[in-house]
Amino acid sequence: MNSLSFPEDFLWGVATSGHQIEGNNTASDWWAWEPGKIEGGLTSGRACDSWNRYEEDYATMQSMGLNAYRMGIEWARVEPRPSMWDDEAFARYEAMMESLSEKGIAICLTLYHWVLPKWVADQGGWENPATCDAFLRFTEEVVTRLGKYPLLWCTLNEPNVYTMFSYVTGEFPPEKRSLKAARTVTRHLLTAHSGAYSIITDSLGGSDKHKGPLIGIAHNMTDFVPASPGRLDRAISQYQARAWNSSYIKALATGVMPRPFGNGKPIPDLAGSFNYIGLNYYSRRTVVFRLNGISNGFSKEVYPEGTRFNDFGWAICPEGIYNCLLELGVLKVPVYITENGTADAKDTIRPRYIIEHLREVRRAIGSGVDVRGYFHWTFQDNFEWRAGYTQKFGLFGLGPADPELERTPRRSAEMYARIARANGITEDIIKEYLRE
Ligand code: FCB
Repeated sequence: MNSLSFPEDFLWGVATSGHQIEGNNTASDWWAWEPGKIEGGLTSGRACDSWNRYEEDYATMQSMGLNAYRMGIEWARVEPRPSMWDDEAFARYEAMMESLSEKGIAICLTLYHWVLPKWVADQGGWENPATCDAFLRFTEEVVTRLGKYPLLWCTLNEPNVYTMFSYVTGEFPPEKRSLKAARTVTRHLLTAHSGAYSIITDSLGGSDKHKGPLIGIAHNMTDFVPASPGRLDRAISQYQARAWNSSYIKALATGVMPRPFGNGKPIPDLAGSFNYIGLNYYSRRTVVFRLNGISNGFSKEVYPEGTRFNDFGWAICPEGIYNCLLELGVLKVPVYITENGTADAKDTIRPRYIIEHLREVRRAIGSGVDVRGYFHWTFQDNFEWRAGYTQKFGLFGLGPADPELERTPRRSAEMYARIARANGITEDIIKEYLRE
């Protein structure tokens, strides 16, 4: 592999979410739900204490040569009770964004990354249409107070993952297992997204697709392939790819969310309510058909020999990101990789993972997809939802038991900094990190 350069002004960043790093998000539904549910017995607790230690973390990002950062704003912090806006919390977010801006680090701001204020969850969460209105009031408040900072607005993080875990498999709060509820929630999430799109464009100007604020969602896509050429295996893999990947792309483009997560009826103002799309890509699923119910996707994962897996058991497949980018290319808007990374406590697979995925991103750019940035998941080990602190996705290691919460750079951090500074992957980087 030769050196690879990326387009001018390409964004090199890291991605995080509020609840996973800030600590003490006490007015949230997750905070109330976590005790007894989290692997390893801990709760999110003080997480990475990023609520207080942001300045040192941003300085590190700056010294690495990063020019972008994906962060979340926690609705529960700024509106802990209905219509009670917490000025101090807003001031803290403003200080964070001011600090990033001073450092020349562009901001991608996520408005909803799976965590609700507890009072919203108590009124039925996303099953209740009133949550759409509440979310729009929250969006309006954020835009009014912080609107000048973000370059990119990410209204929703991975609505497919959220709906699957919270309403189909029941692993995340509110632990429901109902396709009917999942459909309602999907509809409300997409309604909230399109409403937020209007609010942001109306307040910050430019409804022209290529001017004004960039607004989109972060869409989780998986590369689905059948484990055999058999008819049923091919059918189930195509079905999953449609349900998981394509249906959201179709919904954003046409305003109609197909089954199984939609009801085929138009969602008002959804069509075209984006001017970029975010891709969160981690892995491939190789599946065979099984009659084992919808929460198992009527399938079982079967991987060919030689498949590489991360600590979480996710199959590593760099060309999958190429396939997903090509599929997103049909939307004809700029694409940002809003997440890509791997759980690897020992950092033995991460350097290669990053290089190989970036090579595929570069290939997609060569094939005509307008990819404008890459946000690595994640900056430092953090609260990995139900898996707690057991999965290590960080460029920097961090242990919840360490009283100092010291951030320890992994080899990947140094490598990623070199990539960002070079705006690409040089021969030296390849020689040094890909030789094993
Ligand atoms: C994504 C989530 C992110 C993190 C990574 C590992 O699905 O958006 O918060 O948990 O997975």
